[in-house]
Amino acid sequence: MSYLDKFIDRMMAQRVCLDLAPGIIQDIEGPILEFGLGHGRTYDHLLQNFPSRDIYVFEKMVSPNVFVRPPAALLFEGDIHETIKAAAKRLPRKAAMAHSDLGLKDRDGAVPIVASIIQHLPALIAPGGIYVSNTDISLVSGQIPPLFEQLDLPQLREGQYFIYRISV
Ligand SMILES: C[S@@+](CC[C@H](N)C(=O)[O-])C[C@H]1O[C@@H](n2cnc3c(N)ncnc32)[C@H](O)[C@@H]1O
Repeated sequence: MSYLDKFIDRMMAQRVCLDLAPGIIQDIEGPILEFGLGHGRTYDHLLQNFPSRDIYVFEKMVSPNVFVRPPAALLFEGDIHETIKAAAKRLPRKAAMAHSDLGLKDRDGAVPIVASIIQHLPALIAPGGIYVSNTDISLVSGQIPPLFEQLDLPQLREGQYFIYRISV
C-alpha cells in the first residue's frame, strides 16, 4: 500500500466507525466527546450523525483554519492530559461515546496520552457507551484493560480502527 492508499484506507475506516456509532449507542443517553478537533472534519461528521446530542471537543489549540468551530461552552481547550482530569465535573452527565483522533503517529509518543485517556474514560462514559479510536489501547500494557471490550465488526479489518465498549 502506498502512503496515499494507507491514508485513504484509514479515513474510510474512520468514517465506517463514525457511521456505525449511532446504531451501537442508540439506547445510551448522553453527549458525544471528540478528542482532537484538527480541521473539524470528523467533528462535522459527528454533528451530522448526532444532530440531537451535544458534542464536546477536546483540543490543544483550535486551528484558525478549522471548518466548523465548536461553541465555547462545549470546548475543552488545552492539553488533554490536563483537560480530561476535570472533564467529569463540567459535563452535565456521562457521555455515550468518545471519538479520538489525536494524530498520534509514533508508538512511544502515543503511550502516555492513551494511558491518560483510558484511565479517565470510565468516569466520563456511561455504562455500555463506546470509545472509538484510531489507536489500539492495548499498546499501553500489552492487553485491553478490564473495563473495555473490543467490538469485532465485520466492516473493519483487524487493526484498521478500533471500537471499545465500556462496561462500568
Ligand atoms: C489529526 S488532527 C484531528 C483531525 C480531525 N479528526 C479532523 O477530522 O479534522 C489531531 C488534533 O489533535 C490535537 N491534539 C494532539 N495532541 C493533543 C493533546 N495532547 N491534547 C489536545 N489536543 C491534541 C492536535 O492539535 C490536532 O488538532
